[in-house]
Amino acid sequence: MLIDSHCHLVNEDYNIDAVINRSINSGVKYLIVGGSEREDNKLNMKLISEYKNIYASVGFHPSMALDVSDQDYIDLEEYIKNEKVVAIGEIGLDYHYGKDDVDAQKKMFIRQLDIAKKHNLPVVIHTRDAFLDTYNILKEYDLFGVIHCFSGSLEVAKKYLDLGYYLGIGGVITFKNSKLKDVIKEIGLDRVIFETDSPYLSPIRGEKNEPANVKIICNFVSELLDLSVDKVADITFNNTIKLFNIRI
Ligand code: NI
Repeated sequence: MLIDSHCHLVNEDYNIDAVINRSINSGVKYLIVGGSEREDNKLNMKLISEYKNIYASVGFHPSMALDVSDQDYIDLEEYIKNEKVVAIGEIGLDYHYGKDDVDAQKKMFIRQLDIAKKHNLPVVIHTRDAFLDTYNILKEYDLFGVIHCFSGSLEVAKKYLDLGYYLGIGGVITFKNSKLKDVIKEIGLDRVIFETDSPYLSPIRGEKNEPANVKIICNFVSELLDLSVDKVADITFNNTIKLFNIRI
């Protein structure tokens, strides 16, 4: 059995029923939809009430830093009362488009980490071109969670593992020039979970990603590590439900 630990299904023109059916037929029986702004968090709450096999993380992506309001944080704390909300995220820092709003990003990141801490929830971390600041902030918190869509070096991977974090591995590992292959060979699967980050980063170039493709990632890692597909599926599935405290 497989689980997609991070995907976005509400802002694309997905036929959700068809996507879920293909996912289940590929052995990807459960999904965790990730929130990144006001609207998709709200829509994700609707999804988890409609589909038994969908869970959610709720949070505000750094791109929302200049737009977040006090009401948004109140909404967030309201959402997490639902037991199918299993994490805060995706939250973090993103300096890819510049650092003009870095103070606002840090403020929003920290405020959401505080909420996670208060409710003892794991965090789903988005970090892009911002390793040092992300790491230094997380180091100050006794929290747990996943570095979503990890694509860093072995050195960076080890830093996060030392803090107790899991690494979210997606379609990028299948790309020809990805250095992630060497990282995974080195660290093994003890702290790895799979995700698609649909609709982005499809392992099939040029296609819109979807949760069924966790199977492709699993098959790829199985060959890479010379482990059976079932074994890779079991380890990563169990890691995911343990991390997010999902009782199936
Ligand atoms: Ni994402």
